[in-house]
Amino acid sequence: MALKFSSNGAGLIGLDITATSVKLLELKPTKKGHKVVSYTVEPLPANAVNEKNLQDIEAVGEAIRRAVKRSGTRTKTCAVAVPSAMVITKVIQMPDDLKPHEMDAQIQLEADQYIPYALEEVNLDFDVMGPSEDADGMVDVLLAASRSENVEDRTAAAEIGGLDVKIVDVEPYTLEGAFQLISHQVPNQGIDQTIAILDVGASMTSLCVLRDQSLVYTREQPFGGKQLTEEIMRRYGLSYEDAGRVKRVGGLPDNYESEVLSPFRDLMVQQANRFLQFFFSADKNDYVDQIVLAGGCTGIPGVAELIEQRIGTPTIIADPFSEMPVGSDIPAQRLKDDGPAMLIACGLALRGTDR
Ligand SMILES: Nc1ncnc2c1ncn2[C@@H]1O[C@H](COP(=O)(O)OP(=O)(O)OP(=O)(O)O)[C@@H](O)[C@H]1O
Ligand SMILES: [Mg+2]
Repeated sequence: MALKFSSNGAGLIGLDITATSVKLLELKPTKKGHKVVSYTVEPLPANAVNEKNLQDIEAVGEAIRRAVKRSGTRTKTCAVAVPSAMVITKVIQMPDDLKPHEMDAQIQLEADQYIPYALEEVNLDFDVMGPSEDADGMVDVLLAASRSENVEDRTAAAEIGGLDVKIVDVEPYTLEGAFQLISHQVPNQGIDQTIAILDVGASMTSLCVLRDQSLVYTREQPFGGKQLTEEIMRRYGLSYEDAGRVKRVGGLPDNYESEVLSPFRDLMVQQANRFLQFFFSADKNDYVDQIVLAGGCTGIPGVAELIEQRIGTPTIIADPFSEMPVGSDIPAQRLKDDGPAMLIACGLALRGTDR
């Protein structure tokens, strides 16, 4: 199975396999945009996935099976993503007059120059991005390679869940694709703008910077809501499941806000600042026009306001479903609440439409 981030997969499920859950989303193109046709978030047991590694493929597969069943979808194919840390990407130049099969052959021949693994052990794919700015008569080609085991674990889990993997994408590129669903939230639709999407999940935080709607920078680090969950478990003697639930619905003693939540909120601001510094030190400019927060930790009240105030950059929370009609059997409020944590699923689901 190849890493297939450039193929087209009409009518497929976007399947984000995360630290906490399996997120399933299916979109259908409409005249004005997209419609949500199926959606489920199925929780995973603790440690089934550890920092993006599938530790318990069977448990993930069973969760996928439950998600598919609950969603009511009849689609049997899906798109999944691997995190960028599992992928090596490189932009190379190729003559612009090569036919697709010629380019394929030439890249297969030359790939070992760019990829530090034995080629039998990797899944390789490429995508022609457009005319090269650096060389006449050449096109820029994005080459991506992931070790086969990363792809195979996800394929195996999907198979247990009854799904066939048609596309394997790379997380930051799914976010780039998903940006079209949130572009109405940012100045000038992101055209000529520098937009930082900061996704604070359960175990990982990632920054993707888009300039003029294209991905220019990405970085991920282990940080997320799991730290807060663990602190709640320790302090209040709760199980993983209960701690996860009270974070959302409340019911903790009065000192929770000042002694646990508030310090975590401060940590999030610090992390946001660090991520931006990483970007600034790698980039010729040192500003972003807008921060878009994503991930489940955006559910922490006041966090966007605090980041905006301390960092001084306008900050909003991603709301990908705000302009989308949803099927009558879809829990619309839950979908909206989960929206900020569904960007990767959105980008994957869009691969199943005419992007
Ligand atoms: N209302 C809320 N208040 C505080 N934390 C919340 C809220 N809702 C969700 N979370 C936390 O957000 C985290 C889950 O976010 P998200 O779904 O983005 O992560 P993930 O995609 O599963 O994980 P990762 O991206 O790290 O693999 C969990 O730690 C969860 O407890
Ligand atoms: Mg996530």
